Amino acid sequence: MYVLGIETSCDETSVGIVDGEGRVRANVIATQIDIHARYGGIVPEVASRQHVLDIRPVCEQAIEVAGVDWGDIDVVAATYGPGLAGSLIVGLNFSKGLATALGVPLVGVNHMDGHVYGAWARTEDHGLEPFQDLVGEQPIMCLVVSGGHTELVLLEDHGQFRLVGETRDDAAGEAFDKAARILGLRYPGGPEIQRVADGAPDMEPLPRAWMRGSDDFSFSGIKTAVLNRARTLEIYPRTTTDYTVDPQIVAGLAKAFQDSVVDVLVTKTIGAAQRENCAGIVLVGGVAANGPLRETLVVKSPLPVAIPPFKLCTDNGAMIAMGGLVNYRNGRRDGWDLDVIPSLRIGTSLLA
Ligand code: KG4
Ligand code: ZN
Repeated sequence: MYVLGIETSCDETSVGIVDGEGRVRANVIATQIDIHARYGGIVPEVASRQHVLDIRPVCEQAIEVAGVDWGDIDVVAATYGPGLAGSLIVGLNFSKGLATALGVPLVGVNHMDGHVYGAWARTEDHGLEPFQDLVGEQPIMCLVVSGGHTELVLLEDHGQFRLVGETRDDAAGEAFDKAARILGLRYPGGPEIQRVADGAPDMEPLPRAWMRGSDDFSFSGIKTAVLNRARTLEIYPRTTTDYTVDPQIVAGLAKAFQDSVVDVLVTKTIGAAQRENCAGIVLVGGVAANGPLRETLVVKSPLPVAIPPFKLCTDNGAMIAMGGLVNYRNGRRDGWDLDVIPSLRIGTSLLA
C-alpha cells in the first residue's frame, strides 16, 4: 500500500510517499526560502503562485524517487489547514484532481497532526528506536513548534489529540524570525540565530515568560526584550551590510535569546508531560531543527524523547502522507468535502 501526501500550507511545495508500514519512499521538497528571503518574510500571494508552478513537477519527481507507478498509489492525502489560504487551495485542489484521475480515496490531514505523525515516519538514516519504543504507549506529549504554531498536544490515542497549551501571541519560530530581523540576520531566522549563537560569549540572561499556572506560552515579550537590549547595545537599527557592529555582541544577544526560548519550551514541556503521566515526549515542527533545543530536551527529560530527522521536522509531504495513512486506517475518506481552513497567519516575519 502507498499513500501520497501533498503539503502546500506555507512556502514549501512538498510531496511524500509512504508505504503501509510508514516507511518513507520519497519526500521531495521545493522550498521557496530564497524567493521570500529578499522580502524578509513570506509573501502569501507570491507563495501560492510558486506552488502552482512547482506542484506538478514535485509530484512527478516523488513518483520517480519512490520507484512506483501512478497506479500503485492507493490513497492521496492533502493538507487542508491551518496555513495560508491561497497556498492551501493549490495543494488541495491539485490533490482532488489527482485522486479523481487515479480513482482512489482522498484523505484530508490537519497540518499540525501531520507534524506529529511525521515523528513516526520511518527513514533509513535515522534511529527508529525511540519511535518504536513509543508506538503503542500512550499518552504522549507532543511539542509542535513551527513558524506559525507553538502547541503542546497530548496524543491520547492514535487520531485522538487534546490541545493542552498554545502560544498566546507569537509562535516560537516567528519569534526566532523576528529576533533575527532585529539582529540584522537573514530570513529564516531560526537557523541563522543558531549559527551565530554557536560558541557566542555569555551575556546577561533575557527574561523568560513562564505563564505560571498554565501550559500556554508567550514569545512577544522576549522579542521586545531583544529589541530593547539591541537598542541599548546600539546594534539596532542595523543592516546586514553594517560592518561597524561587533559580531560578538550580535552573537551574544542571539544566544541569550535562544537560551530563553529553549529554557521555556523544554521546562514547560517536561512539566506538562510529567503531570499527564506521559510515556514519552515527541518534538516536531520547523523549530525542532534547533540543535540546542533538541539537546537540552533530551538531556533534561526523564522520559524518552523522540525527534524526527531534520527533513521530517520542517514542512514536508511525507508527514502528510503519514497523517493520511493514520486517518485512512481510522476510516476517514473525507477529502472531497474538504475546504481550506485558513489560520490567521499572514506570513511570518514582515514586522518585528
Ligand atoms: O514547520 P516549518 O517548516 O513551517 C511552518 O509551518 O511554519 O517551520 C519554519 C520555522 C521558521 O520560523 C524557522 O525560523 C524555524 O522553523 N526554524 C528554526 C530552525 N530551523 C527552522 N528555528 C530555530 N532553529 C533552527 N535551527
Ligand atoms: Zn509546519
